[in-house]
Amino acid sequence: MKRFVFLMAFCAFNSFADDVASGRAKADAACALCHGPNGVATMPGAPNLAGQQAIYLSEQLKNYRSGKRQHEVMTYIAKPLTDAEITQLAAWYNSIKVSVEAP
Ligand code: HEC
Repeated sequence: MKRFVFLMAFCAFNSFADDVASGRAKADAACALCHGPNGVATMPGAPNLAGQQAIYLSEQLKNYRSGKRQHEVMTYIAKPLTDAEITQLAAWYNSIKVSVEAP
């Protein structure tokens, strides 16, 4: 039983790492122009995504895809994304470590 639990944990970790790597490759190609190569936005008007909760990111992408959330650019970008791609992109942006400092 213990071994089984370990195996489950290992598989979960592995698939998360796979999601991060696939998400990163997709983001480099399709999102980095505006959201920055490290998820810190390079285009004025685009939000930072680095370190954001994966659950929030996937929800927003699904909302753009379904039309529940509307934005000229993001609606168009999210339309063709599959659930798996959304999971991967959310895992990538979530995995980026950010630190904050109050002034
Ligand atoms: C041409 C510029 C551009 C590209 C490319 C782009 N985005 Fe965006 N993105 C924006 C802008 C601008 C917003 C703010 C939209 C709004 O006000 O709803 C945004 C918003 C978002 C949000 C919502 C963030 C929040 O805080 O609510 C997510 C998530 C997101 N983008 C993910 C992505 C992903 C993933 C990709 C690549 C597949 C991508 N974007 C590509 C410009 C872009």
